[in-house]
Amino acid sequence: MKTAKAKKITVKDIIKKYGGDKTAMIAILQDVQEEFRYLPKAALSSISKQMEVPLTRIYEIATFYNAFSLKQRGKNLIEVCAGTACHVQGAARLMDRMERDLAIKCGETTKDKMFSLEEVRCLGCCSLAPVVRISGNIHPNLTQDEVPKILKNY
Ligand code: FES
Repeated sequence: MKTAKAKKITVKDIIKKYGGDKTAMIAILQDVQEEFRYLPKAALSSISKQMEVPLTRIYEIATFYNAFSLKQRGKNLIEVCAGTACHVQGAARLMDRMERDLAIKCGETTKDKMFSLEEVRCLGCCSLAPVVRISGNIHPNLTQDEVPKILKNY
């Protein structure tokens, strides 16, 4: 039986993993986001200092890619696909239902920090439309009536 707690990964560990390579900035930011679920200001400042890269340059990268979030996210990220195939199959109704059941708007996080709700453009599995991804899990052919049960599982 395991008793030791998993060691928390720090920004320093992530930079070290890439050998401090400035060309690996996107991968470093991806790892930081994976660890914290968003890009905290303190982490970006730390990267800037440790890698001697201007903070403005790091913010340029972080704000250029939609996959990065500078806002704190909840434990579970819900991504409702609004690409063409999903739109045609009722993605807007799914988003409405999510907003109603979670009592938040798209782009917001629930007060208990359990869920963040976002809209994305195509999750790459259009034949399964409409699709919602929650914490990395794809929920295909989702109907709004299934939303409460799915959310309960998280
Ligand atoms: S449009 Fe939704 S997965 Fe492609």
